Amino acid sequence: MRVTVAGIGYLGLTHAVCMADLGHEVLAMDVDEGKVARAAQGEVPFFEPGLEALLRKNLDAGRLRLTTSFAELAAFGTVHFLCVGTPPAADGHADLRYVRAAVDALAPHLTSPCLVVGKSTVPVGTARSLQQAITLAAPAGDQAELAWNPEFLREGHAVQDTLRPDRLVFGVASAQARRLLRQVYAGPLATGVPELVMDLETAELVKVAANAFLATKISFINAMADACQATGADVAMLAEALGHDERIGRRSLTPGLGFGGGCLPKDIRAFRATALDLGVTSVAGLLAEVDTINQSRRALITEMAREAAGGHLAGTRITVLGAAFKPNSDDIRDSPSLDVCDRLARQGAIVTVHDPAALANAARAKPQLRYASSVTEAASAAELVLHLTEWPDYQALDPYTLAGVVARPVMIDARCVLDTRLWRAAGWSVRVPGRPRAG
Ligand SMILES: NC(=O)c1ccc[n+]([C@@H]2O[C@H](COP(=O)([O-])OP(=O)(O)OC[C@H]3O[C@@H](n4cnc5c(N)ncnc54)[C@H](O)[C@@H]3O)[C@@H](O)[C@H]2O)c1
Repeated sequence: MRVTVAGIGYLGLTHAVCMADLGHEVLAMDVDEGKVARAAQGEVPFFEPGLEALLRKNLDAGRLRLTTSFAELAAFGTVHFLCVGTPPAADGHADLRYVRAAVDALAPHLTSPCLVVGKSTVPVGTARSLQQAITLAAPAGDQAELAWNPEFLREGHAVQDTLRPDRLVFGVASAQARRLLRQVYAGPLATGVPELVMDLETAELVKVAANAFLATKISFINAMADACQATGADVAMLAEALGHDERIGRRSLTPGLGFGGGCLPKDIRAFRATALDLGVTSVAGLLAEVDTINQSRRALITEMAREAAGGHLAGTRITVLGAAFKPNSDDIRDSPSLDVCDRLARQGAIVTVHDPAALANAARAKPQLRYASSVTEAASAAELVLHLTEWPDYQALDPYTLAGVVARPVMIDARCVLDTRLWRAAGWSVRVPGRPRAG
């Protein structure tokens, strides 16, 4: 099939490359000429395992091309994916100006029957209003249809999540829209990926509800960490025991510093704002609490660092392991780690940050911090080490070697994943929120 993708950020570039890899002919566009030029040269402007190799493979095979023209998109294919950003507005709502601009630019060129497929995360009701805008502006009128196919990919696993998703959600208003989406996704569907067909509103809600649930699960286990902290219980054991219950499950049940990034925080705030507009106070109240608990983790880790430093941070040399908002990513948007770094630096700590992939982005965003390209360099003469992003590299560190580099072997494992027994055996004092101080 001939497929187009508007917006080549994290979502759109991954989607365009994977669509081409599934065998479709793909034309991808963005309003950012620099991004388009780099992608056309086979360059991925962010860290995503496997994506650059797949981009080059599909450019070389001639299955993927790039443009900055909406007219070319419209002329190229019959299925047009919308993957533009929906950043937060000042009042917490999703800012829909980019989605609306993309539809306004594309629709006047839609002269023959086609399907526009929204993938961006939007408030419920957006698709319905975009359909009206398309019908009014497209020469094809109501033959230019809209569907919503929300995206669930995780940064760091984006390629595999796109090629082999857990499920495909099709929000459609006609049998023709469903037929076209089935054709586009014939590859994954043939491997048994569940296909869930529903109305536009439910499809929009599935995405924000999934993010709300994941955020709630993370804040739930962090609230349990507070209960453990107050009682001397061990949240790591608690999470393990809870996770064996099939109704609960182990994933997203890791206590620690909480969530960040370009999606979860903005999506739960946007959902809360929509819920308030709709008068759905249950959702608004729940998500307000989830957000509050999540933010409180950053203050908690900062306070733990102050205590571990002997009550004052001014002049304390602190090494921070991890700057990205999550491992396997160079994305620092709303990074919990960098937020903690900011708080420490504001209290006078001398903070040196290491990250396997996000160092350049972090240095651009937070020039007031120090950066080191190796853990050894970062930890040299440190009085305190904070493990803030759970890159596998850090779990593989040798605590004996590192103990010889630092000034004081004191570690706060804010991600609750290090082998505390091993680190303590190597002479480290290890503190983990919600876990007993020793044992
Ligand atoms: N990043 C993720 O992991 C992820 C996962 C699932 C869903 N989403 C959702 O996908 C959407 C995109 O997210 P992202 O992380 O890729 O954002 P991003 O900021 O990385 O990319 C957005 C892209 O859209 C382009 N753009 C803006 N206006 C445009 C226009 N009028 N026409 C064409 N291109 C335009 C921008 O130049 C940019 O390249 C958001 O709604 C987000 O919530 C993201």
